[in-house]
Amino acid sequence: MSADNLIDGRAIAQKVHAETESRVDALKSAGVKPGLMFVRVGEDSASKVYVGMKERTAAKLGIRSETTVLPEDTPEADLLELLGKLNADASVHGILVQAPLPRHIDETNVFSTVSPAKDIDGFHPVNVGKLMLGKGGGFVPCTPGAVHELLIRSGVAAEGAEVVILGRGNIVGKPMAAILCQKKQHANATVTLCHSRSRDVAEHCRRADIVVAAMGVPEFVKADMVKPGATVIDVGVNRVDDPAAEKGYRLVGDVDFAAVQPIAGKITPNPGGVGPMTIAMLMRNTVRATEQQTDAGIR
Ligand code: GUN
Repeated sequence: MSADNLIDGRAIAQKVHAETESRVDALKSAGVKPGLMFVRVGEDSASKVYVGMKERTAAKLGIRSETTVLPEDTPEADLLELLGKLNADASVHGILVQAPLPRHIDETNVFSTVSPAKDIDGFHPVNVGKLMLGKGGGFVPCTPGAVHELLIRSGVAAEGAEVVILGRGNIVGKPMAAILCQKKQHANATVTLCHSRSRDVAEHCRRADIVVAAMGVPEFVKADMVKPGATVIDVGVNRVDDPAAEKGYRLVGDVDFAAVQPIAGKITPNPGGVGPMTIAMLMRNTVRATEQQTDAGIR
């Protein structure tokens, strides 16, 4: 397999980490240690893995992090009370409540309770609104932020490009569309947002210069849906049963990588593409939140 069209998310994430680390050092010289609090509710196994990876990366970069784990049946009011305390704690600069939350908890209430200044996930309505307005100054959600940064740092021009986004979720699809249609450098794309009710998704994809797959359907994007030379970004992480695998399942993306890689101009591997970069964006957001709250650092 030729690897010369791969967008190496791990390598690009390392570059972002190096930039973040120098900002952490500058904060420390000013007597400030960035603090990031994770909150997990219940025992969702994927969430445990994700939060664990984020904690380890924070430690490597010199960011203090702690995780509060609440039981599955925690009342929403208790979670909101905890967030109120974290909002008021000056040693906490970033707060991340891992989604998905148990069904009895309203995610919008939760994300709206995190202080916008500490909302390094970019899920608070104020930050969502700032992204829509395109004036900057807010926090951009980490996964679409990661896709954008991968495109920029791989030299893939969004300017004037036909971008097709598959999936209209609040975490990836919708903010991704908002980022790429901004009237700004590295944006100015013509964005089509496809979803489960879209007619003829394949036809939309075939027109695209850039496909961002984020709908959570294993290996949905096939070779005949991709224009030769197009850039293909795979955000999907799907568990599919595999009796031969040690855990009884394996992880696959939303793109049929083996089939699409030979015709794509550029493509993210999965794993090793969007995932590591998402964590890098989270750490970068945390450092920015710390700088803004303490008026310290190099910015
Ligand atoms: N679950 C899946 N992606 C994310 C994310 O970016 N942030 C949070 N908090 N939860 C998630």
